[in-house]
Amino acid sequence: MSSQPKLRILYTRAEIEAKVDKLADKIRRDYLGKHPVLICVLKGSFMFTADLIRRLNFPLEVEFVQLSSYGGAKESSGKIKMVQGLQSPIQGRDVLVIEDIVDTGTTIAFLLDYLRDKKPASLKLCALTDKPSRRQVPVKIDYLGFTVPDKFLVGYGLDLDQKFRNLPDICVLED
Ligand code: IMP
Ligand code: MG
Repeated sequence: MSSQPKLRILYTRAEIEAKVDKLADKIRRDYLGKHPVLICVLKGSFMFTADLIRRLNFPLEVEFVQLSSYGGAKESSGKIKMVQGLQSPIQGRDVLVIEDIVDTGTTIAFLLDYLRDKKPASLKLCALTDKPSRRQVPVKIDYLGFTVPDKFLVGYGLDLDQKFRNLPDICVLED
């Protein structure tokens, strides 16, 4: 029998909305007159990507990639697998990667290397949350939403064992 996990709201849906507004303002300014490819990192970034792109009023394309590192536990295995790679060429394109959370940095560093090899014109990273206290691989985040504490987060796309992605707020899982 599993007991019900305790959830505490860290960022409300209103705070997330305000943050996505701000990020979209910056991205709009920087990509005006360009036609970038936005890459949504599945699964965790689907909600953030959907909210962000609705605020962007320039031509863009959305691509999806899926990586896995977590074998269902809270700790990263450190081994990254490309579950679904890019379906379209990005050579010469302005590429913006949309990520839910940068934790140790292993996953996103792996993805950025994979994308850099495909010779985009530019490559930037937008992350909704950053957990710098756990970083093992240096990562430059060009557009950052929230710097978060060393806690396991769920909601707004983030999961624990595939659950809680549907929560509209970002919550801390208390143990
Ligand atoms: P990293 O490779 O350690 O940076 O892990 C990045 C990936 O692990 C993220 O894209 C998430 O999918 C997942 N992850 C890291 N921290 C959390 C968390 O607090 N909640 C949910 N998923 C997380
Ligand atoms: Mg992710």
